[in-house]
Amino acid sequence: MDKLLVNGGCPLDGEVQLSGSKNAVLPILIASLLCAEPLQVRNVPHLRDITTALKLLGHLGARVEFNEDQTVEVDSGDLHTLRAPYELVKTMRASILVLGPLLARFGEAEVSLPGGCAIGSRPVDLHIRGFRKMGAQVSIENGYIKATVGRGGLNGARILFDTVTVTGTENLLMAAVLARGITVLENAAREPEVVDLARCLIAMGGIIEGAGTDVITVKGVDALHGACHTVISDRIEAGTYLLAAAATRGRIRVIGYDPQQGDAVLEKLREAGALLSIDPRGLMLDMRKTQPQAVNLTTAPFPGFPTDMQAQFVLFNAVANGSSMVTETVFENRFMHVHELQRMGADIHLRGNTAVIQGVVGLSGAQVMATDLRASACLVLAGLVAEGETMIDRIYHIDRGYDRIEEKLSQCGASIRRIPGWPATSVLPFRDGGSASPPQS
Ligand code: EPZ
Repeated sequence: MDKLLVNGGCPLDGEVQLSGSKNAVLPILIASLLCAEPLQVRNVPHLRDITTALKLLGHLGARVEFNEDQTVEVDSGDLHTLRAPYELVKTMRASILVLGPLLARFGEAEVSLPGGCAIGSRPVDLHIRGFRKMGAQVSIENGYIKATVGRGGLNGARILFDTVTVTGTENLLMAAVLARGITVLENAAREPEVVDLARCLIAMGGIIEGAGTDVITVKGVDALHGACHTVISDRIEAGTYLLAAAATRGRIRVIGYDPQQGDAVLEKLREAGALLSIDPRGLMLDMRKTQPQAVNLTTAPFPGFPTDMQAQFVLFNAVANGSSMVTETVFENRFMHVHELQRMGADIHLRGNTAVIQGVVGLSGAQVMATDLRASACLVLAGLVAEGETMIDRIYHIDRGYDRIEEKLSQCGASIRRIPGWPATSVLPFRDGGSASPPQS
């Protein structure tokens, strides 16, 4: 397995070009299953999860074509199976998103239960409850979700989510665009990635109102048509690089940053003392002349502070001035980066779902192990901050969600390089046809 070797202690200074949003492009690629005409998707990042999603679509029988300019075309006009197998679903939980489109277009679907992962049990009960409200018969047999619906297809329904669920909202939104009648999703997720999916579905002929609010209304249509959609930039990738510059007391310009995608992270960075400015070329952060102040935060669904930025901010607080508390309210086990940071000298104590952090002057490099996508990003940032060498193992986690992270950080002056493991796995599975993804964290 590949590792990343980081030599820390050097403030970042440079600029990075954001890639397309992983969490927007995954549901959008899968939305291609809703119609018999090709869907063209632009600004697709080179990520392991994207390769997995394209493998899954190919397994179902979709024709997948990608070009060098980060454009992918998916043609689901002639699928030959409606079954998403365990081997593929286990490496990427978002595979559950094929359930809604297949059920809505073909009246049946069989999808392996995604199961939990390192950060939590990750149930899908709200997805299933929504499909049942739309008239589907759904059973769990031998680890698979088996869903069917009568000849009339799915019926529009009022669906109130007990908990805000991003992929739950996306799954039912995709099902609703082909259901008979009106569907109202209440307590819906408001994330920019949900809005981007809605924009793509509307371009395909869907009738959707309210995306980005907690009530989304959909008027079902008989069929969708092909379209071309450009994916939004990745706000979590942006936040990760901003935190990298802030934690190393450097500066960075993030090209392609979209201020429309919420500012909870920017507000916390300003509170921490970062100087931020936005110009047509992107967002500039400068932390060279200010002492970073630790900040308290609590994660929450959008527009609250994103849980996907929690680990990165724990690292920032660990080397900032003062004490702070970081509370995780979305997932039940999303502090596994803390144990690795403690090994590097961080002063952090866990009290239930809160990390109590006392800033220290510096961290020392160590051998550490990534456990999940955002925890691995946090460990890269820790390596950039620490004195000496940090070797990060199991970085297949990071390749799932960050497009060429060592290239982009090196362009900002970081000393970071990939140490190929054995069997050599491609950094960019996209380009070599992909390689089997190890089990997801
Ligand atoms: C999406 O996961 C993202 N993944 C996650 O990003 C992100 O952390 C999460 O939303 C929260 O923002 C993708 O979009 C592919 P949820 P999702 O359903 O949809 C509970 C990353 O690092 N819940 O919004 O799976 C659940 O247990 C990844 O890029 C149920 O109880 O998350 C959790 O506590 C990690 N029943 C809460 O809701 C359900 O049926 C929010 O989960 C569904 C969810």
